[in-house]
This record gives sequence, structure tokens and C-alpha cells, in this order.
Amino acid sequence: NGKYTVSLIEGDGIGTEISKAVKDIYHAAKVPIDWEVVDVTPTLVNGKTTIPDSAIESINRNKVALKGPLATPIGKGHVSMNLTLRRTFNLFANVRPCKSVVGYKTPYENVDTLLIRENTEGEYSGIEHTVVPGVVQSIKLITREASERVIRYAYEYALSRGMKKVLVVHKASIMKVSDGLFLEVARELAKEYPSIDLSVELIDNTCLRMVQDPALYRDVVMVMPNLYGDILSDLASGLIGGLGLTPSGNMGDEVSIFEAVHGSAPDIAGKGLANPTALLLSSVMMLRHMGLNDNATNIEQAVFGTIASGPENRTKDLKGTATTSHFAEQIIKRLK
Ligand code: IPM
Ligand code: MN
Repeated sequence: NGKYTVSLIEGDGIGTEISKAVKDIYHAAKVPIDWEVVDVTPTLVNGKTTIPDSAIESINRNKVALKGPLATPIGKGHVSMNLTLRRTFNLFANVRPCKSVVGYKTPYENVDTLLIRENTEGEYSGIEHTVVPGVVQSIKLITREASERVIRYAYEYALSRGMKKVLVVHKASIMKVSDGLFLEVARELAKEYPSIDLSVELIDNTCLRMVQDPALYRDVVMVMPNLYGDILSDLASGLIGGLGLTPSGNMGDEVSIFEAVHGSAPDIAGKGLANPTALLLSSVMMLRHMGLNDNATNIEQAVFGTIASGPENRTKDLKGTATTSHFAEQIIKRLK
């Protein structure tokens, strides 16, 4: 029934089960998408982890991919495939919304944060070495180019959604040169966006204030260097019920890959315990990106309706008793 083709990386561990839930729900919702399942099993070429050409071609052709969790191979020479994908397709902005799920109570109410993480460099540049035994260096690489494109993305994101505030989260009090450059770029770009109010905040203070009162971060687009975004997005996720609930989009100029932020959870793989919500909500972000807004709303409301309908229809991570497939069936029943 496909008007569109999307590359699907099912992922390791629980990836198969949560991808199946997505495929079943999309089929039932009559979403006009054909899945092109791609294999991204890494190969080592000259000591560098590479993605199979067929996967690169599929994603370049379709421009949009949905991705389940990939295990990071342990051992010398292997880098995370998650990171390799981000870098290969130059997915410079990682958009991570986090919104309270009505019907799933946590100590926090009305959380609605939006975090944009620089996605290609910083501490994630992977430049590390031993100087002499017992002394190592990890390079935190910050460039004007990557800072500018992600900060511009944040301003544009705010503009296009009628949001009036951009907040840069940083630690330039200590990282004077690297975070200092990031801040400098944000201030320069602010001149091009006079309708948007730029503020800045130290990362430790953001953590403190966000757990005290997440409402302070409503209607704000937060943007920050890579590692801060990694950490703060988990914190935000914890406020609403965990990584089983939070989606993300890795955005580039050409290609976008939407992915669940959680890991492959090998301990529960194959047991029907996995929560597909994060992957489903990532796919909802994907649908909106593709302009399939009605399909997005349909699936999103069915997911939230199912979660709210009680613990018998929720997975274990949400204090429920439902299996992955029971949860998916309930979502299907709620589709319009
Ligand atoms: C995330 C994950 C990844 C990261 C891991 C799996 C490499 O934690 O997407 O937040 O650190 O970016
Ligand atoms: Mn993370």
C-alpha cells in the first residue's frame, strides 16, 4: 500500500519485537509506507567500523529511516553503530522531546521539554589516546561549523513552531574555549533571530532546576553540545517514566533517522516484555516529518489511549502486565 518507502533498521535484542509491533500497527492503520528492511551488521574495513553499502544506499535513496536499538560491539576497533550512522549521514541535530504521558503517573506532571543535541562531535568525536601508560587524553572537538548548524536548527525549530525561547545549555565557566565557542556562535546567530529570546544556563544548574520544576522548561527549545544532550535527555526521560517512552529524531539536511533512545536490552529480548512505545513515538515524529499528520495523530492517540487504559495493557517497565504483542493489539483496537 506504499506511496512512500522507509528504510527500517530493526535493531538488536528487543529490536525485532518492537519493530514487529510497529509494522503490525502501521499495517492496521493503513499508513501508506512500505518498509525496506536493511541490515547494518558492521564490518571492519581497515580497522574502521563500516556500514554495509546496501544499507547506506537504501537510506540515501529513501531519505527517511526508522531505527531500533543497536548493540555496541565491545572490543578494539569497534565504535558504536548508533554513532556511525549519525556521522555517516551527517545527522547533525538530535531532537528529543519529552512529554508527560497522560494516564501514566509519575511524581512529575505536565513535563513538556524539547532538547536538541549536537550529534556529530564534542566528546563523541572518538579521538582518544594514551599519552603514556596511566595518562590518557580524550579530545572534545567543537567546531564553529557544527555548532552553527545545530544552533541554527534550534532557532528555526522555535520559529517554525511559534516558540519564543532558545536556551543554550553549557559549561563555559570551565570549558571556556570549547563551550565558549558554542555560546559565541549562539549569540552571533541571535542577531538573525530578533523575535527569539536567547538565554544560557550551566548544565549542572539545568539538571537541578529541571528535577525541581520541569515546568520551567516548557515552551523552550534547549540546544547543547553532544554529551550534555545525551545526559540531560535521559534525565528528562526519567521525569516521565523512562526510556521506554521517549522518541528521537536524528536530523540532517538530506536524511533523517528516527530512533528509540533506549538500548537493545538483551536481558529481556525474546520474552515479550519490551515496550515498543519509544520506537512507535519515534515513528510518529517521522510521520509528521513526512507530512503524514493524520496517520501520526491516529497512532499517537491509540498509543496514549492504550497506556492510559490500565496496567493490564501496559508493559512491565510501566508497572503493567501486558506483553509486547498484547500492547500492540490494544493499540490496533484503538486506531481510527
Ligand atoms: C543515545 C544513546 C547513545 C549515545 C549510545 C547508544 C551510543 O545513549 O542515543 O542517547 O550515547 O548517544
Ligand atoms: Mn543516551
